[in-house]
Amino acid sequence: MSNIFEEIRTPTNPPVYKCLMNGEWVICESEKTLDVLSPVDGSIFGRTQAISQKEADNLIRSAYEAQPGWADTPAWKRSQILHQGARLVEENAQEMADVLVQEIGKPKKEAMAEVLRTVELIDYYAEQGVRMIGETVSAEAWPGYKKNKMALMERVPLGVVLAMPPFNYPINEGAPKIVAAIITGNTCVLKPASQGAISALHLAQALNAGGLPPGVLNVSTGKGSVMGDYLLTHPLIACINFTGGTETAEYITQVAGIKKLVFGLSGKDASIVCEDADLDLAASEIASGAFSYAGQRCTAIKRAIVEETVADTFVEKFRDHVTKKFILGDPRDEKYTLGPVISQEVAELVQDLIDDALGKGAQQICGNHSNGLYIEATVLDKVTADMRVAWEEPFGPVFPIIRVKDWKEAVELANRSQYGLQSSVFTQDIDKAFAISQRLEVGTVQINGKDSRGPDHFPFMGVKGSGLGMVQGAKYLLDEMTRIKSTVLNLRT
Ligand code: G3H
Repeated sequence: MSNIFEEIRTPTNPPVYKCLMNGEWVICESEKTLDVLSPVDGSIFGRTQAISQKEADNLIRSAYEAQPGWADTPAWKRSQILHQGARLVEENAQEMADVLVQEIGKPKKEAMAEVLRTVELIDYYAEQGVRMIGETVSAEAWPGYKKNKMALMERVPLGVVLAMPPFNYPINEGAPKIVAAIITGNTCVLKPASQGAISALHLAQALNAGGLPPGVLNVSTGKGSVMGDYLLTHPLIACINFTGGTETAEYITQVAGIKKLVFGLSGKDASIVCEDADLDLAASEIASGAFSYAGQRCTAIKRAIVEETVADTFVEKFRDHVTKKFILGDPRDEKYTLGPVISQEVAELVQDLIDDALGKGAQQICGNHSNGLYIEATVLDKVTADMRVAWEEPFGPVFPIIRVKDWKEAVELANRSQYGLQSSVFTQDIDKAFAISQRLEVGTVQINGKDSRGPDHFPFMGVKGSGLGMVQGAKYLLDEMTRIKSTVLNLRT
């Protein structure tokens, strides 16, 4: 059986990955490339194309020209093609997971889980997409009107969607952006993060080889400084669906002009542990929520706020879970559950946050040893509001515990953040859980469970600096990828 990925790269070592333009995998004219370094061992894992503005323009135009024909393709047919793409992801899951491990340092099991949940996601979105329905509104509800005037509201595609997934989930965050756009009749230009781009190119090829017509999915890679603004400001882009840092999103809002924007951004998710919580459950869930993929998840739990009466017991249980579950080492080897962070910059930020907190009196519970990008799971207790780690998002394996007198103080601290992605509450009192949930300024509250985006048909969105619009949840994202087109019937009856 031929390998569908041979087409996307050269047979060199390291391979040079091509771009997908109007249905063909091509090397850009300048032959300029970007090195993608593996955080696992620092080697060059591959090279991606540094496309020019002219090539970016060609690629957007090909998406723009393909869009009306694709929107006219029956939804069941679009769905069938995407299901075929899902099968190709499934058949090539091992290779795609191996790429993830090497390119972004995700531990082996988590990498495979990312690919497999993406297969389910594509299938689910492809099903949901054939069930888009419109609404009608009759004028009779308005004073002075009768039933003979009626607005018919259809959901129609936006046009060309620029999909920008993050480095940490290039496949599972790339897929909803591409698939939600495509199933609803848009065409898509994928611009993955520089790190993670190779994984995203594999996803694009699986979907493309499923039978997408030329131009429906195009992929551009390259330096943000050369063509970032060009893509963001291009008049033929109708929507930007971006997941990444809040600062980048703020920049996008300044330059993009009148385009629809959907953002999934940074977080500083707080877990509130009440004195009546099941402390074993809380410690176990919060440990997983904090340190999976070395804390490099927007929904990673990034602080525990614990009622002081149970804090000592919680900290002891938490340390046990963290040290048993998160073993630092080579992510290619299944026995290691904590791999490297993505870059030197992140490693330095994590160390700065640890040093700042310890210098101001925090207590080190475990960790604080590192070797290059490999950093032990570090837990800091008795963190106070004057410490940077209480507020800043590390995107790495350092975790603060903040002690408070009661849950009301916990809520106040949780809300005193520029972010509002998710929160979790641990209590055995459902009334209290609800009272807390209602006061938290976030997109989602988890009760007695860790923060998490999935399952992938659940709604997912942030408030404040954590996002704009519905980032996921099949139905909601499909709505975001369409607009209402209203036709008013004026009946002469
Ligand atoms: O990095 C942000 C992701 O949306 C987190 O997703 O909760 O599935 O790990 P997750």
